[in-house]
Amino acid sequence: MVETNSYTIRPAVEADVAQINDIVNYEIGVSVNNFNYGPRSYEDGLAWFNSTITGGYPIFVATTLVNGEEVVGGYSSLGSFRQKDGYRFTAEYSIYIHHEHRKRGLGRRLLSDLLAEAKTRKFHAIIGSISEGNEASLRLADQFGFRVVGVMKDNGYKFDRWIDNTFVELIL
Ligand SMILES: CC(C)(COP(=O)(O)OP(=O)(O)OC[C@H]1O[C@@H](n2cnc3c(N)ncnc32)[C@H](O)[C@@H]1OP(=O)(O)O)[C@@H](O)C(=O)NCCC(=O)NCCS
Repeated sequence: MVETNSYTIRPAVEADVAQINDIVNYEIGVSVNNFNYGPRSYEDGLAWFNSTITGGYPIFVATTLVNGEEVVGGYSSLGSFRQKDGYRFTAEYSIYIHHEHRKRGLGRRLLSDLLAEAKTRKFHAIIGSISEGNEASLRLADQFGFRVVGVMKDNGYKFDRWIDNTFVELIL
């Protein structure tokens, strides 16, 4: 575990992309919380960053200093739920905390700032898609008042098995 409890939450910048990718790629490798099978390249991470920002969606990072270097401990972001015009006030959230920075309140802080920003940007409905077995995410969403709208059976396939997905929604 990293020996710090002092974090700053700020909007992400392009220079954060490599560390955000590392966090996501760790999760891709060990869990079904992300349905990709292989790591996301730096170029794909950069494309995600640019399309998110130019699409009008926020990305936040939690940073801390480790041996004088700024380290990204986690991030939260919004993205398109569906692209058709009528869905423009709905967004889907993502939140990933580096495995060595978990259980320190970062998830709560990053989601709190993300939802406040979502309100400022006039989003109306925020959707989350939570894979089977992800109790931490379910509990975090519940703490913010998200309601479970349904469980999609066998919605994903990874590590040679079918995985259910719970969809949650918060009206801002
Ligand atoms: C889910 C996740 C974002 C939580 O981040 P975190 O910084 O560890 O969470 P926090 O310390 O802010 O805890 C907030 C709440 O989350 C829940 N929680 C966090 N870790 C938990 C765990 N291991 N088991 C059960 N609940 C947990 C608790 O309700 C906790 O509140 P509490 O401390 O009052 O009990 C983090 O575990 C993570 O990044 N997981 C992998 C990626 C992922 O699943 N992303 C979400 C995809 S939908």
